[in-house]
Order: sequence, then C-alpha cells, then structure tokens
Amino acid sequence: MTIFYFTATGNSLDAAKQLGAKFPNAQLRSIPQERDTIGASEDAIGVVFPVFAANIPAIVTRFLRRVNLKANYKFAVAVHGGDPGPIGGVLARISDFDNVFDVETWSNYLPFNPDIPPVATDISGDIEQIAETIRARKTQKFKPDGGEPFDAAPWRLQALDYRWRKDCTACGTCMRVCPVANYTISEDERDENGVPLFKFSARCEGCMACLQNCPAAALHMPNEPTRYRYRNPNVTLSEIIAANEQKF
Ligand SMILES: Cc1cc2nc3c(=O)[nH]c(=O)nc-3n(C[C@H](O)[C@H](O)[C@H](O)COP(=O)(O)O)c2cc1C
Repeated sequence: MTIFYFTATGNSLDAAKQLGAKFPNAQLRSIPQERDTIGASEDAIGVVFPVFAANIPAIVTRFLRRVNLKANYKFAVAVHGGDPGPIGGVLARISDFDNVFDVETWSNYLPFNPDIPPVATDISGDIEQIAETIRARKTQKFKPDGGEPFDAAPWRLQALDYRWRKDCTACGTCMRVCPVANYTISEDERDENGVPLFKFSARCEGCMACLQNCPAAALHMPNEPTRYRYRNPNVTLSEIIAANEQKF
C-alpha cells in the first residue's frame, strides 16, 4: 500500500503514520515531494490531506489531476477540525475514490483558534475503524453534487499580509516548511527592527505551515498578536521539513 499525504502542522502526517502502521509494508510519500507526473500502481492507494475551507488543498488537487493512480482500491482520508463540508462530493469531481473517510482533529486555523492551548487529539479509534474498512475493501461512493466548498481566495490572499516581528532569528524554518517554496530571504536587507527582509510570492497555499512552525512565533497574521502556535505532538519539526522542503 502507498499512502500519499500532505501536511502543514502534522495532523495529516500523524493520521497517515498511524494508518500505515496497520498495514505491512505500507509506504508513505509526501505530495510536495512528488514533482513529476507519476503513475503509481498498487493493490491499495490512499491520499491523506487536511481540509481547507471545506475543500481539498490546491496542492493536493493539482497532484490528483496530474497523477495516474492505479489501484484495486483507492481511498482518501480528509483530516479536519470539525467541519469537513462536502468533501466526498468535491473529491468525486476530481478522482474516482472507492471510499472517502474523515478524521476530526485539532483545528490549526489560527484566526478561529488563537488562544486555546493545543491538545493532542486521540485518533486511534478512527484509524482502527478506517483500517478495518480498508481491509474489508468496503466502498462508499459520493455524489459530486454534495454542496459547495467556501471560496478559498480570501485566506490565500491574507497570507500576503503575514508579518515578521522582531523575535525572528532568521533561522529559515518558515522557508523550509513551505510546500511551494514561496519565500525568499534577503539577509543583507533588514527592516527597522533588524529583521531580515522576507519576500513572499503569490504561490502561497494558505496552509499556515510557516506561521505555525516558526520556533520563535515571530511570524504573524495582521491583528493576531498571540504567541500560541500548533504542531501535532506526534510529529517533529524535522518531519514537516522533510515532507515539505523544496530543494532545487
Ligand atoms: C486555511 C485553512 C482552512 C481550514 N478550513 C477548515 C475547514 O473548512 N473545516 C475544518 O474542519 N477544518 C479546517 N481547517 C483545519 C484543518 O483542516 C485541520 O486542523 C487539519 O487537521 C490540519 O492538518 P495538518 O496538521 O496536517 O496540516 C483549516 C485549516 C487551514 C489552515
């Protein structure tokens, strides 16, 4: 079995790891590292990703449109913070999954969850149920007309207003956890606080990996002064970097 995943703060990777552990020889592959058009052929193939605005992250949609996943059984796991929206129907427009599961976790959407301390969500029961369903090769088809996701444009544009505060140590973590290499840093040019100038291009996925994984909590949204940041306790920063860093 191959499980493709995308993660910004580790919840989807945690789910992919826990699910992979239930199957012998399951392989985990990070979607941002799959740059070429691939054809994967397996008995079972899974795709695990976070729900963004009741939708599939754009990077996952591009992946699904580009790849040729051939398997006797194809499943998706939508990892979300309480409202997966019409995700089964949305996926059905893009690819033909035999089953679409959802797993509720801690929501990493900072504007709605700014001040609450992070908790580890126990997803082991959900994962066991999903694994049993996969083993039994049960199918559940969704109709593509199950409602509309929210408009994703505003939160992706919001990212253009991210700001670095003076606590920034220029460690470069924000650049390394970004799945689309959206940042460049200019060490020579600094702002009035001495923070190196970061340049932010328009490729942003709005995943908030940069904001959430900053070790100094120095990267902020406008009007968001909290230092609270979230990463799934079962996943390390090195794992997020390995999953997302774009090396050229
Ligand atoms: C931009 C954005 C939009 C989100 N939209 C939703 C949503 O519509 N419904 C929901 O339940 N959770 C939503 N979330 C929360 C994530 O789906 C959830 O925290 C997920 O577990 C994050 O996975 P990750 O840690 O693998 O990145 C959103 C998160 C972000 C960053």
